[in-house]
Amino acid sequence: MTDLDRQVISDWLDTRAFGRNIEVHETIGSTNKRARDLALAGAPNGTVVVADEQVDGRGRRGRSWLSPKGTGIWMSVVIRPGFEASLAPRITVIAALSISEAVYVATGCRPSIKWPNDLIMGNKKVCGILTEIKADDSYTDYVIAGIGLNVSTRTDQFPGDLAMSATSIYEETGTLPDRNRLIADILNSFEYMYESLTQPGGFDRLRMQYRDLCLTLGRRVRISGVNEEFEAIAKDISDDCALVVELDDGTKREILSGDVSVRGIAGYI
Ligand code: BTN
Repeated sequence: MTDLDRQVISDWLDTRAFGRNIEVHETIGSTNKRARDLALAGAPNGTVVVADEQVDGRGRRGRSWLSPKGTGIWMSVVIRPGFEASLAPRITVIAALSISEAVYVATGCRPSIKWPNDLIMGNKKVCGILTEIKADDSYTDYVIAGIGLNVSTRTDQFPGDLAMSATSIYEETGTLPDRNRLIADILNSFEYMYESLTQPGGFDRLRMQYRDLCLTLGRRVRISGVNEEFEAIAKDISDDCALVVELDDGTKREILSGDVSVRGIAGYI
């Protein structure tokens, strides 16, 4: 795989802010942690931290994120949205859309999205997004969008059971896209979508695209919350990015967070 190269990434960028301030690390603990430190120190909107390897990569719900050297895109973007915290889930929606679009441009195959923020190819997870936020009721200081995209990982590199549920672009498409170009393409779409969030009807158009790519909708799902677990049919994505589900007794509920597995052809994913 081609090495990560700050200059090559910059040459492919077509943005005003996203990626214009960028750190490229050979090895780091976690790009999200570094991005948070930079955000707390006042880093501007669109600051990016990317690494060839993470030794303490973090996933959702306190899990770790496997990030071996040279095999993927481990990247965090600092965003300073001019909107309140309740709208922050929109950042995750557009992160997922922009990654899906960039992978499609690079490979001709379009990953689907498993609500809220997993990208799926061939019924397995190819990318996860970890969004961290610092905000109070009225003001969002920053959102960190952390992206973990498996590019060249071979199935036998995923330890244990992970090989059953995780995949990479290479495993699914047989292509090895240039990571520098892919990073720039993700940032190009991400900024474009981020700017359209503030335009009239902007989020509605993006939500429509998200619905089209969201494999969760129309399927039977199992939701595991902190204190409960239940099954339902996933119906829609609400204006505040919640998953709208219908229970077997016909009642509707809006799920804002929780682990959601989707019943597919080969069991739940
Ligand atoms: C998930 O659990 O699905 C989210 C995984 C997010 C992993 C990425 S890799 C880059 C960034 N730095 C981290 O430590 N985590 C995120």
